[in-house]
Amino acid sequence: MMKKFNVGIIGATGMVGQRFTTLLAEHPWFNVVCVAASARSAGKTLKEAIGNKWAMKTPLPEKIGELVVLDAEKDIDKVAELVDFVFCAVNMKKDEIKALEEKYAKHEVPVVSNNSAHRHTPDVPMVIPEINPEHIEIIAAQRKRLGTKRGFIAVKSNCSLQSYVPALAPLMDEFKVTKALTCTYQAISGAGKTFETMPEIIDNVIPFIGGEEEKSEQEPLKIWGKIVGDEIVPATSPSITAQCFRVPVSDGHTAAVFASFEKKPTKEQILEAWKNFKGVPQELGLPSAPKQFLNYFEEDNRPQAKLDRDLEGGMAVSIGRLREDTQYDYKFACLSHNTLRGAAGGAVLLAELLAAKGYFD
Ligand SMILES: NC(=O)c1ccc[n+]([C@@H]2O[C@H](COP(=O)([O-])OP(=O)(O)OC[C@H]3O[C@@H](n4cnc5c(N)ncnc54)[C@H](OP(=O)(O)O)[C@@H]3O)[C@@H](O)[C@H]2O)c1
Repeated sequence: MMKKFNVGIIGATGMVGQRFTTLLAEHPWFNVVCVAASARSAGKTLKEAIGNKWAMKTPLPEKIGELVVLDAEKDIDKVAELVDFVFCAVNMKKDEIKALEEKYAKHEVPVVSNNSAHRHTPDVPMVIPEINPEHIEIIAAQRKRLGTKRGFIAVKSNCSLQSYVPALAPLMDEFKVTKALTCTYQAISGAGKTFETMPEIIDNVIPFIGGEEEKSEQEPLKIWGKIVGDEIVPATSPSITAQCFRVPVSDGHTAAVFASFEKKPTKEQILEAWKNFKGVPQELGLPSAPKQFLNYFEEDNRPQAKLDRDLEGGMAVSIGRLREDTQYDYKFACLSHNTLRGAAGGAVLLAELLAAKGYFD
């Protein structure tokens, strides 16, 4: 049986942080012993600090709500004494986040991060556990650079790509995806917002999300990259172009995808590859792993954000409308829950992989 690990949530008052509290309250391996946020929240109980900003559909877990919020920057020593590792999701400047996460790592606290700051640091693994679990082996090189024994940073990738990268992944080796075009329709919780705090999205579509298109195009290449020496060298293909829109949906990012292949598969081969796709999380039976990661819907009007985002606890990917295209080989639609698989849930699954492989010992 897996030993229980004590964990902290850095950014516990935020949208992703709140999601961590609900996912970890009953977690079989992880026990939340500390929460931290900005100086504005420090000293209050988590419940008081969140106040009317609570945005989850289930209540704040009582025991976690009673924890007194620490100052994420000033109280690192205290956090380090209490925890085996931390989850981190904070809204700060990129340089500040980079420095903060390195400080935790140098205090020998492993950091499993939702933030984008370190995604392109060459010795920081950016992992979707079903797709590139072997990238965690780069942690040895990172520890060498940081001069740490236990401490390291591991990150998850952006929420926008959590549907189409998994959908393309099982087609990469055999059929070689050469290029992909994707248009994403992203939920407001991805901006840490609700309809109350983002009224301008009601009856509206906003064709811009700062930095999101670059992340959607570049991060997949690191995920499909290889460890060479002390770094992860990004893949050079497929070439990806993306447009990212904010839409009036609470949770769930949808993507319209067009893809071409070196060796064009049949529709049946694609459906078979999706149905049979399993990764290390399924083989190891990690607690948050969906049993069926990729789910194809035959109905013409699926997947739908409202109906399908919660599939397998929001950890599965839904796909539909696969058909041939006149410009690309195929097109299809896909969906994943942005604050579950795309944020906190994806980070919890990554932490489970790291725990199972002994990285928190
Ligand atoms: N929402 C998503 O779907 C999603 C998906 C993937 C990745 N992310 C990433 O996750 C991170 C958090 O996103 P979010 O949507 O949860 O943001 P959010 O709701 O705005 O929450 C931000 C959190 O950061 C804390 N914070 C702000 N300034 C701080 C400081 N100087 N020191 C310490 N803590 C500070 C806040 O604490 P106070 O309450 O005390 O201000 C709060 O806990 C971001 O990097 C975002 O890009 C979000």
